[in-house]
Amino acid sequence: MTSALHRLYILGQHVTVRHWAACIVCLVITGCGSDTSAPEVPVFDDPQLQQGRGTWVQICRNCHLMGVAGAPRIGDAENWRARAVKGRAALHQNAINGIGEHDNWTMPPRGGEARLTDEQVRSAVDFMLAASLGTDTPQ
Ligand code: HEC
Repeated sequence: MTSALHRLYILGQHVTVRHWAACIVCLVITGCGSDTSAPEVPVFDDPQLQQGRGTWVQICRNCHLMGVAGAPRIGDAENWRARAVKGRAALHQNAINGIGEHDNWTMPPRGGEARLTDEQVRSAVDFMLAASLGTDTPQ
């Protein structure tokens, strides 16, 4: 027991040291302390997209930053382009109503946050599209 705990402790130290080393290398290379393992989340001047970004960071980011459970990642242009052929209205509807079935959602209605208004969900979708497809965002 003691030795297992000891090994765990050593492992913990080892990981910490490696993390610090990686951080320092990252700081030297990039000159900043941001987490480079996550994609950049852009900022837009458009107030609607700014509002969408706020909702996205609070709710949608949980799945759409890293692609949890098959969620299309923000910035993954290929994945979003394939979905965008449905048109923006269909993507809005799927985000509001969810994809899947009760108790078996892949994309939960409103990202699982029932208090979000339709407009907030639409803005979050628009933000994710603008961040992923830029000017290729469908009308
Ligand atoms: C619990 C995880 C989760 C959260 C939170 C979540 N999503 Fe999703 N989302 C998914 C998954 C998984 C898919 C892929 C579903 C599929 O294609 O079957 C998806 C797909 C989508 C799509 C593409 C729909 C389509 O027709 O292809 C949109 C748009 C979307 N989400 C918007 C949002 C927005 C906006 C929010 C925040 C309000 C959000 N999602 C929060 C998991 C999530």
